[in-house]
Amino acid sequence: MKVLFAASEMAPWVKTGGLGDVAGALPLALRAQGVDVRVLLPLYPALRAAFASSEAVVRIPAVGHMPAGSLHLATTADGLPLYLLECNALFDRPGNPYLGPDGRDLPDNALRFGMLAHAAALLATDASPLSWHPEVLHCHDWQTALAPAYLRYRLGLVSGHARTVLTVHNLAFQGLFGRDMLEPLGLPADCWHLHGVEYHGYLSFLKAGLQHADALTTVSPTYAREIQTAAEGMGLDGLLRYRAADLTGIINGIDTVQWDPATDVHLPVHFDHKRLKHKKAATQALRRELGLATECSGPLLGVVSRLTQQKGLDLLPPIADRLAALPVQLAVLGSGDQALEAAYAELGRQYPAQFSVQIGFDEGLAHRIEAGVDLFLMPSRFEPCGLNQLYSLRYGTPPIVRATGGLADTVIDAADAARGTGFVFTNASPEALLATIERACGLWRNSPQFHVLQQRGMRADYSWRQPAQAIAAIYQRLLH
Ligand code: ADP
Ligand code: GLC
Repeated sequence: MKVLFAASEMAPWVKTGGLGDVAGALPLALRAQGVDVRVLLPLYPALRAAFASSEAVVRIPAVGHMPAGSLHLATTADGLPLYLLECNALFDRPGNPYLGPDGRDLPDNALRFGMLAHAAALLATDASPLSWHPEVLHCHDWQTALAPAYLRYRLGLVSGHARTVLTVHNLAFQGLFGRDMLEPLGLPADCWHLHGVEYHGYLSFLKAGLQHADALTTVSPTYAREIQTAAEGMGLDGLLRYRAADLTGIINGIDTVQWDPATDVHLPVHFDHKRLKHKKAATQALRRELGLATECSGPLLGVVSRLTQQKGLDLLPPIADRLAALPVQLAVLGSGDQALEAAYAELGRQYPAQFSVQIGFDEGLAHRIEAGVDLFLMPSRFEPCGLNQLYSLRYGTPPIVRATGGLADTVIDAADAARGTGFVFTNASPEALLATIERACGLWRNSPQFHVLQQRGMRADYSWRQPAQAIAAIYQRLLH
């Protein structure tokens, strides 16, 4: 089976969050299931540098106001073929793939990801300039969600084409643009209606995909249910209920090679569930790296996150004084919302021996925090899947999570003595978070019980094997 995977980021080359991790690992897991997956990505500077010897293989024609481009073929060290969409006017920008240096969305994102989606759709048709013809086109999030609409309203009218799957990693990002973008995107006026690409007067890339993809998936069963409710559906719950029969929630896996405490290249010391006592050395090394006091009678808590409303990290500063008094230490790595960045930076200044706050994006430090801290915090307001709680479980770091989306599906509260792996709370309030941290500290002091919790998390299978099987089964269903 041939599958074209269209994405806007892919670890380790371009990553802003979990989508990058998924695009980096899932195609390889699908190949292990015998699926011939190839990945389409924009040729960003980081990819050009990584695959300097790749050459253009075919031309991609101009459409609407989107310029012509070309497709480079590259192969990763793992043997995965990548099609890199070259269009310097749109993709030759350093840094974050979506934001400018001022932290705002790039003004031409509609054309940038319109071009990516159009190229994905074109490669999925019988009229593709490539000789390799996918049977399934798998799109991810709003950045590629316009592809099924291009097939429906443009390319598919004159050519046979692949079946389509859209995976929603986060319903909060919808790719909303003005109606005036229709023509620049090369979309005909007759797609502007309730069952087309129109969404409350805007052009919505995500809605277009939810409407027109043959199959929909999202990244956990609980999130699949939540997004069909008015409370969590971000205005798209009606459409998602309408498409419920085509929507499947499948928990993400993790890259168990990159994220393995026994071999992780970012760690100064290695450990696994049989050599868990070495984790203490990772904790001490992290304290030294971050300038935290090397003695503390309480646990070291960790956060690695986008600092946004979604992640519920505004719940922590109001209880910081009480956390400091418990006492606990805290290692925070994150970036995002300016007010939150400032609030955390202030905590770091106030409690330099107890709270370390690093604003920025640092892959290596993210691994060392996962390995070194005793407990990991994810008080998310909503969380489609979440990968950090899975990394934490694998690194012997019981997570403290809010019961939402994929967090509810992957972490079992310690109150379940036979199955517990972490700590789960329900109310999105500072008090509920504090009470749960206190409860976790209690168990941390009782080290035999805490060990059981750590060991259980470390031994579970979070690999992509099962999720990839479930996704391959969806491809099969579409083809038969
Ligand atoms: P989301 O995609 O919503 O941000 P996930 O938990 O699915 O959340 O994935 C986030 C990924 O991004 C993880 O691999 C996490 O380690 C990484 N990450 C988030 N913030 C940072 C940061 N500041 N530095 C390094 N890695 C980060
Ligand atoms: C999104 C979600 C996150 C999920 C990731 C990968 O960024 O916010 O919960 O883990 O995508 O699917």
